[in-house]
Amino acid sequence: MSKALGQVLQQEVDKRRTFAIISHPDAGKTTLTEKLLLFGGAIRLAGSVKARKASKHATSDWMEIEKQRGISVTSSVMQFDYNGHRVNILDTPGHQDFSEDTYRTLTAADAAVMLIDVAKGVEVQTIKLFQVCAKRGIPIFTFINKLDREGRNPFDLMEELEQVLGIRSVPMNWPIGSGRELSGIYDRMNNQVELFQGNDHSQIQVKKVENYHDPAIRELAGEFLHDQLCQDLELLDVAGDPFDMEKVSRGELTPIFFGSAVNNFGVQTFLESFLRLAPKPEPRHSLAGLVEPTHEKFSGYVFKIQANMNPAHRDRIAFLRIVSGKFERGMSVKHVRVGKEIKLSQPQQFLAQDRDIVTEAYPGDIIGLFDPGIFRIGDSLSQGSEIVFDELPTFSPEIFAKVTVKNALKHKQYQKGIDQLTEEGTIQVFTTVGFEDMLLGVVGQLQFEVFEYRMKGEYGVDVQLQRMPYQFARWIVGDKVDPSKFRINSTLVTDKKGNYVALFENEYAMRTAMEKNPDAEFLETAP
Ligand code: G4P
Repeated sequence: MSKALGQVLQQEVDKRRTFAIISHPDAGKTTLTEKLLLFGGAIRLAGSVKARKASKHATSDWMEIEKQRGISVTSSVMQFDYNGHRVNILDTPGHQDFSEDTYRTLTAADAAVMLIDVAKGVEVQTIKLFQVCAKRGIPIFTFINKLDREGRNPFDLMEELEQVLGIRSVPMNWPIGSGRELSGIYDRMNNQVELFQGNDHSQIQVKKVENYHDPAIRELAGEFLHDQLCQDLELLDVAGDPFDMEKVSRGELTPIFFGSAVNNFGVQTFLESFLRLAPKPEPRHSLAGLVEPTHEKFSGYVFKIQANMNPAHRDRIAFLRIVSGKFERGMSVKHVRVGKEIKLSQPQQFLAQDRDIVTEAYPGDIIGLFDPGIFRIGDSLSQGSEIVFDELPTFSPEIFAKVTVKNALKHKQYQKGIDQLTEEGTIQVFTTVGFEDMLLGVVGQLQFEVFEYRMKGEYGVDVQLQRMPYQFARWIVGDKVDPSKFRINSTLVTDKKGNYVALFENEYAMRTAMEKNPDAEFLETAP
């Protein structure tokens, strides 16, 4: 590698941070994202992201469903610069538009910010998304939001993180009072207080202090709140986990930050600490071993495919996470699965407001490639070599439906649609053993609606979906396993590759099947 390229690569990698915000709907993800973008100057007006969420933005109303619902169906990427860092935020759709895409997007992130509502604590969707991140062992930073409202005791929330998510936590700052009595936060790492000033939040006052016993805090917050703060922090000092960067990096310890996104309170300190502590772009596994981001040749993989962003065209956009090397517009790369060289001519980056044409990009960045139908989820692209990245995991569907075609003459188009939409990862398809019925499995209801809509719009096929009562899918593996046994407690199906999958209506049925078949492994994802 030329010395110059090596240096540039190292510098570009060092300054990048690529992460996703995971949360339950309404915890404040849109608000926090917007504040972060404002700090980075990527948007000028508060409300821009919100407006986009409300579907007023031209690039996001590519689909009727989206317009009707006022939500963004698939996740996008936002980029901004702050303090010498280049930050990529991967948006993970939360509301009813929760889908497998949400999970897959997390595989492109190097860290996650888990946003929690101080009053509600850990919620269902937080758990699901947390588990996907935890499986990858990526660092998770926690932001406890809405501190201006009455909420739960911070110690209770820490306990909940441990009990429900199984992760220990270390508060980086600590609230001084709460809700209406909120006076500020004490920054444990920098020994400073940040004072909360109700309505005039642009003027947040920051004061350096000796330590939390400093009488200056007493003057600012009053005797009662200061005593409480000292009591809490003494307890944390003695009984709490110390900050340990290695544990954070392995995803075993989560740093907690308290704040209020809508008031922009605690957000900037959070952003700065996060950028300092979060990992730079990490290497990724390939068949030939780890690929380091500073590897001189460009490589990357497709983690998401989005159709019809421009309704005038049939084109799809393939989202590629750059793993190594430098991307340059117009470069030729090997599309490893099909064994062809292709030219990457019109790549796009997805900024907060507009889609821009990218001329160069580096590891950690996400680019959108126009896809005339040549990409699949998990495809690897590389320059001058045949790097094949590990397959992206498939996620266990939780909602199922039987699908039939209303007009039998349309069978060919139907099959074509099914093939393409499974490739894109819109749905997973299963066939019942013995009956040959086709079942679809998804993790979010919206995936069904997108499926129906696109079958009709793009393939001219009317389909009928009948919801089935299953809740769990488990891939059955093991040498001594007799799949026919699984037809008793469950419905036995095969996936696209012919693997056996048992579908269960409830946890009890699943547990019974596990007990009766001790030799079998019940995998949550395809082997
Ligand atoms: P989401 O993307 O996670 O779904 O959440 P979003 O940012 O849309 O926030 C959900 C609601 O919570 C919004 O109120 C938002 O203003 C509010 N919110 C966000 N951060 C804070 C905070 O720190 N404190 C308080 N008190 N509220 C917060 P909304 O009434 O649904 O919308 P809006 O009309 O206020 O915009």
